[in-house]
Amino acid sequence: METIPPQRATRIEAATEGRIAEAARLLREGRLVAFPTETVYGLGASALDETAVASVFAAKGRPKFNPLIVHVSERRDAEAHVAFNPNAQALADAFWPGALTLVLPRLGSSSLSLLASAGLDTVAVRSPRHPVARALLEVAGIPIAAPSANRAGSVSPTTADHVARDLYSRLDLILDAGPCPLGIESTVIGFEADRPVLLRPGAITREAIEDIAGPLAEPAEGDVKAPGMLASHYAPRARLRLDVHELRAGEALLAFGPNVPSSSNPICNLSPRGDLAEAAANLFAMLRQLDQSGVTTIAVMRVPDRGLGEAINDRLRRAAAPREAAP
Ligand code: TXA
Ligand code: MG
Repeated sequence: METIPPQRATRIEAATEGRIAEAARLLREGRLVAFPTETVYGLGASALDETAVASVFAAKGRPKFNPLIVHVSERRDAEAHVAFNPNAQALADAFWPGALTLVLPRLGSSSLSLLASAGLDTVAVRSPRHPVARALLEVAGIPIAAPSANRAGSVSPTTADHVARDLYSRLDLILDAGPCPLGIESTVIGFEADRPVLLRPGAITREAIEDIAGPLAEPAEGDVKAPGMLASHYAPRARLRLDVHELRAGEALLAFGPNVPSSSNPICNLSPRGDLAEAAANLFAMLRQLDQSGVTTIAVMRVPDRGLGEAINDRLRRAAAPREAAP
């Protein structure tokens, strides 16, 4: 059974210099702070503090086998804990700071929490680009373990309000800097014999990664390499029906592009002009909004699979998958 975390009032504060300094102090004291990144809001804890990391798992209701991403300010901060291969170096050169997570072998000398990487011999590391995340890492002076700041299995948060709805009273402070610019999580790359493997499609496209590191291998079938990639994830309450052309009675519509079936039911358009970056930025907020309208089914128009569409369709398929039994 999950232990119930202590209840406390959560403060939501604009991410000013003073609040960032306070957030840094709280993190160093082992407390939990949510903060914006360029992808989604993260639920942060000191990655050096086993107890603080344990409370992240408790606050999210996250299964302990699903490891967290450790956020660092600079590449050298990651090099203190993991071993970079030449492809990983080239990818970090190209995309850090940014929406790329690298899963690399943990160094024997690393002081990172073992729970953060769920006992695996690898650690996922990322240097975020968002100015608030960067300021927080610099002032705190410690690596920050941070999963997306939502309850396990639900839709990732792209605003401070989403975090508060999911996690209120389960953390001390939410730093609010408005909506996350990219809106979809980082791309997660692992390595097999130094060859890059796509563990999770995300905000940096396959094409951009392959330009630097060559063709991406798929994770071996039946081998859950990113343990968070369970089929049912990002799940709204409503059922999702994908690739629709026509609406059925009572369905809400998540549209894409200029040609939208007319409807008197709730409707959100990911991007009326058919732009995939705009669609990624809107995806989680619109899924939440349609879900809150109380419909039983959300019909989703087809989103092309190229570029950022790969990550968008990955999240939509997971949101549509039948629920697993609670862990
Ligand atoms: O954009 C993002 O990546 C956001 C922001 C906050 O940085 N974070 C995020 O974290 O999406 P989370 O915990 O929701 O997703 C992390 C993913 C999971 O699928 C997890 O299984 C995978 O990364 N992961 C973490 N450590 C891993 C490891 N050592 N080996 C394989 N996969 C790992
Ligand atoms: Mg997540």
